[in-house]
Amino acid sequence: MANLQLSLQTDGKTTFPPSLTPPVTPIAKKSGPVSLLQNTNTDQRPSKENPCILSFTDDLEICRDSNDRSVEFGRGVWSIVYKARSAPAKTALGTPPSSPVTVAQVFAVKAPLRRDARPVLKAEAITLTRLTYTPGHEHHIVPYHGFHAELCALVLTAIPLSLSTYIEEQSDIARNRKPATPTMFDPVQGPVSYQALARKLISGLDWLHNTAGVVHGDIKPQNILLRATEDDGEFPYEPLFVDFSATVEIPQDENEPLDTTRASMSSFTPPFTAPEMLASLTCTEMAPTPASDVFSLAATLLAAATGDLLLYSNMNHRLRLEMARAGHQIIDFTRSGMNGSRVPRNGFVERIVKPAVVKDPAMRIPAADWVTLASV
Ligand SMILES: Nc1ncnc2c1ncn2[C@@H]1O[C@H](COP(=O)(O)OP(=O)(O)O)[C@@H](O)[C@H]1O
Ligand SMILES: [Mg+2]
Repeated sequence: MANLQLSLQTDGKTTFPPSLTPPVTPIAKKSGPVSLLQNTNTDQRPSKENPCILSFTDDLEICRDSNDRSVEFGRGVWSIVYKARSAPAKTALGTPPSSPVTVAQVFAVKAPLRRDARPVLKAEAITLTRLTYTPGHEHHIVPYHGFHAELCALVLTAIPLSLSTYIEEQSDIARNRKPATPTMFDPVQGPVSYQALARKLISGLDWLHNTAGVVHGDIKPQNILLRATEDDGEFPYEPLFVDFSATVEIPQDENEPLDTTRASMSSFTPPFTAPEMLASLTCTEMAPTPASDVFSLAATLLAAATGDLLLYSNMNHRLRLEMARAGHQIIDFTRSGMNGSRVPRNGFVERIVKPAVVKDPAMRIPAADWVTLASV
C-alpha cells in the first residue's frame, strides 16, 4: 500500500477554545474547535485530576519518498516521528469535497515504535494538552494539534531543524573557518548569537517550571527544535521544547510524593542527565526535578558552546558514563577536551553554566534566577 490514508473526521485547522466545552460526541464535523476526549468535568481546564486529551481528527497522509518509504523526521527510544500531510476529507462517496479548498499542512506525527510505547504517548498527549492551554506556550513548546486515536500518535507542527543539527552545522562552519585562531575562545556560533540562544532557552525552562508547573525530564539538544523567526537578527530562531515523554508535574505541596511512574519509563542520556539521576539509575523512585532539568539545560548550553554533542567525544562509552556520573565537574571535563578553549574562565559560558551544574541539586540556581543571570 502506497499511502497510509486514514478517513476520519475533519476539523480544519486547530483552534484552542479559551475554556473547555462539555464533552462532545465524536461526530464528524467540518470545522470548529477540536473535540476533547475523556473530559469529565466541564468547567475546568485540563489538570491532573481532570486529564483530557485534545484529539486530532483530520485525515492524515504519511509522506513517502521516491522509494516509497515513509519520510521520518527522527526517532527516539519510544517513537518514530513521520512527516505527514493533512489530506482533504473524503465524502461518503470517497472523493474529496471540491470546496472549500484546503491547503495541506505539513505535520510531524509521533507514533509508537513499540507496543509498550502506547501508554507513554498517551501520557505525553495529556501533558501536551495541558501545556497547550497554558498562556505563553506558543513561544516555548512545539505546537500540538492533538492525539490521533487510530494511530495512537501525537500530531505536531513540523519543525525540521533540531538544536542538535544546528550545533553540528555550526561546528562544521567553525572547523572550516580560516584563520581559526581569532574565534577559538568563542562559542562555535559566535558570542552574540550564543547569548541570545542561551537567554531564550533559559526563559523557556523558566516558563516550563514556573508558569506551566512541570519538569521536562529529558532536556538535550535532540529534544529542542528551532523555529525560524523573522524579527531577531541575533539568533533568528525560537527554541521550542519537544518530547514530553518523561515530563512530571511539580507538586504544589512539597510533601506530596513525586510522580515517579513516568521517570522509570524514560531513557537517560549522559552527559545531559544530572549526576544524581545517574547515581540512582537502579532506584525507580527517582523522578526528575527542576534542578535536574537545570543541569540538563546547562549541559546542553555547553554542547552548544563547544559544538560537541557528546561533550567528551574522544572517550569510550563507559568512560563517558563515568564522567557523567561526576557531572558537577562537567566544565573542567569540557575544558580539557578538544574544544575547551571555547569555555574560557569567567567568560559568559562559564558564568551561566557554573551555578547550574553544582553537585547538590538543592544549591543549583533556580530557573527564575537563571533568567536574570543570563540577561546581564
Ligand atoms: N514537531 C517535530 N518536527 C520535526 N521533527 C520532530 C518533531 N518532533 C520530534 N522531531 C524529531 O524526532 C525525534 C524524536 O522525537 P521525540 O519526541 O524526541 O521522541 P522520543 O520520545 O522517542 O525521543 C526528535 O529528536 C526530533 O529530531
Ligand atoms: Mg527525544
